[in-house]
Amino acid sequence: MQPTSIRLSASVLGLLLSLVSTAAFADSEPTVGTLSPISLPNVSPANSDLANRGAYVARTADCMACHREDYSGGVAIETPIGNIYSTNITPSRRYGIGNYTEADLKKALQKGRSPEHQIYPAMPYPSYHGMSDDDISALFAYFQTVPPVEEPPEKTTKLPFPLNIRTLMLAWNVINVPSTENRTGLTPVQQRGEYLVNNTEHCGTCHTPRNLTQGLDKDRYLSGAPLGKWFAPNITPDNNTGIGRWSEDDIVTYLRTGKLDKRAYAGGPMAEAVAHSTRYLTDADLSAMAAYLKVVPVIKTDDYLIPLNTARLPNPISSSITYDLIEQEKYISQAKANSVTNASINSINSPKALYLTHCVSCHGVDGYAQPDARYASIVGLSSIRRAKPDALVNVIGFGAKGALNTAPKMPGFEKDLTHAQIASIANYVRVNFGGLATSTVTESDVKNIMK
Ligand code: HEC
Ligand code: HEC
Ligand code: HEC
Repeated sequence: MQPTSIRLSASVLGLLLSLVSTAAFADSEPTVGTLSPISLPNVSPANSDLANRGAYVARTADCMACHREDYSGGVAIETPIGNIYSTNITPSRRYGIGNYTEADLKKALQKGRSPEHQIYPAMPYPSYHGMSDDDISALFAYFQTVPPVEEPPEKTTKLPFPLNIRTLMLAWNVINVPSTENRTGLTPVQQRGEYLVNNTEHCGTCHTPRNLTQGLDKDRYLSGAPLGKWFAPNITPDNNTGIGRWSEDDIVTYLRTGKLDKRAYAGGPMAEAVAHSTRYLTDADLSAMAAYLKVVPVIKTDDYLIPLNTARLPNPISSSITYDLIEQEKYISQAKANSVTNASINSINSPKALYLTHCVSCHGVDGYAQPDARYASIVGLSSIRRAKPDALVNVIGFGAKGALNTAPKMPGFEKDLTHAQIASIANYVRVNFGGLATSTVTESDVKNIMK
């Protein structure tokens, strides 16, 4: 092949692959965030210290989000050209990685090379490239203790020609591995944070925009990227478009619990990261990541976040209405009756009536939801305060089911509501629960966002 055609193949391949984990994590255990570190599963006094350390490393690297909690694989990583399925990485000799040596594991993680073939970068080896030898040794020891699953994943990858030519990845790797560069001048704590963010947690696979070949764009490191129906926001310390206004403690709380009271919520793909990984991390490691995220280069984007104006947020109507389902029921029917009969300004299509009809049963009259039922409070959330209403419109249109949430999933209203009605609800939510002074999402905005 001539160099130009290699480049072309690599970039065509790259453009087609959307190499992020918006996988259909159908099997994730519904779990609830807690306030203190929760105990680490898969750790046993019967195992060596090295293996137990490996269990922690596996959490910091979020292997389970893609390979399942039992590492049996078969989880789809959605790409426009079809799904790439994760593989069985239990120590089964027949179906898993039981024949791997430690050197093989190191090659798979750092170079994207399994003993048989090149691995697709749906497996985040461009990030694991920088994983330390010590951590890989610990992972190797740990994987020997995992119960083998003696069957193949339910589904395996079948890409059409020429995408099935795995050696194409060699050209792609030259351009895109490693996916990040280490900074100089960091304190030891910030360095630890950098290692976790870049080389184990691979936060950038979702939060860094992609270049033309679908590798991570280093110049726009962590500045936010689309993820199917979701958007992973800018997490550089810019005050207006990133998380510059978050304290280090805020970041720790969010990564530990998946939420930040009246400010942010980890739904969808972020819930996966919290549920499988960050909530298990030690305080020291979460603090290190927070310290590092405060010093990454500031990037301002056009994804402007309207600052929180707490004075404009609703007060809970009363504690009983927030917590007492029966009382809430009564209040809702009263409120519905009022807004429907007050026909001069309110029709059944009034924003409030629409909210009360379609959203209130889960998010409550006042947006604070029903904490006992574990629906998400939507008051003050960053996802409803963005100048671009995309995140909110998409969640109304397509619904959400986060791994952190044991509540029934949020349905998508794509079929039940018109674009105009979705616009109307979005405006209602932004003004009443987001504290925005005004909101002017239009029918055609909704149409553009949802297409
Ligand atoms: C973002 C999703 C994702 C994460 C996170 C992830 N993997 Fe993978 N992994 C995959 C996919 C998809 C494949 C299959 C790629 C292919 O078919 O080329 C894979 C393949 C592999 C392979 C190659 C298996 C073989 O066929 O020989 C190994 C080994 C592996 N992963 C180990 C790990 C370990 C260990 C971790 C955690 C440190 C991890 N993976 C984290 C998605 C992921
Ligand atoms: C699988 C993709 C994915 C991964 C991996 C991921 N994130 Fe996210 N992140 C998202 C999405 C999507 C959102 C938006 C969530 C929402 O609005 O419900 C988000 C939201 C956030 C927010 C809140 C920002 C705001 O303005 O509200 C922070 C902070 C964050 N992520 C940090 C991280 C860090 C640190 C890591 C690595 C440990 C990480 N994320 C890994 C997808 C991801
Ligand atoms: C059946 C219950 C239910 C209904 C009805 C419902 N939601 Fe939700 N909503 C949820 C759940 C559960 C979540 C959390 C999802 C997750 O964890 O990813 C959520 C999350 C959200 C979020 C936060 C998104 C984020 O991740 O930042 C917003 C905003 C939201 N809903 C708005 C609405 C609006 C507006 C309506 C009415 C059109 C509505 N919801 C109807 C259950 C519901």
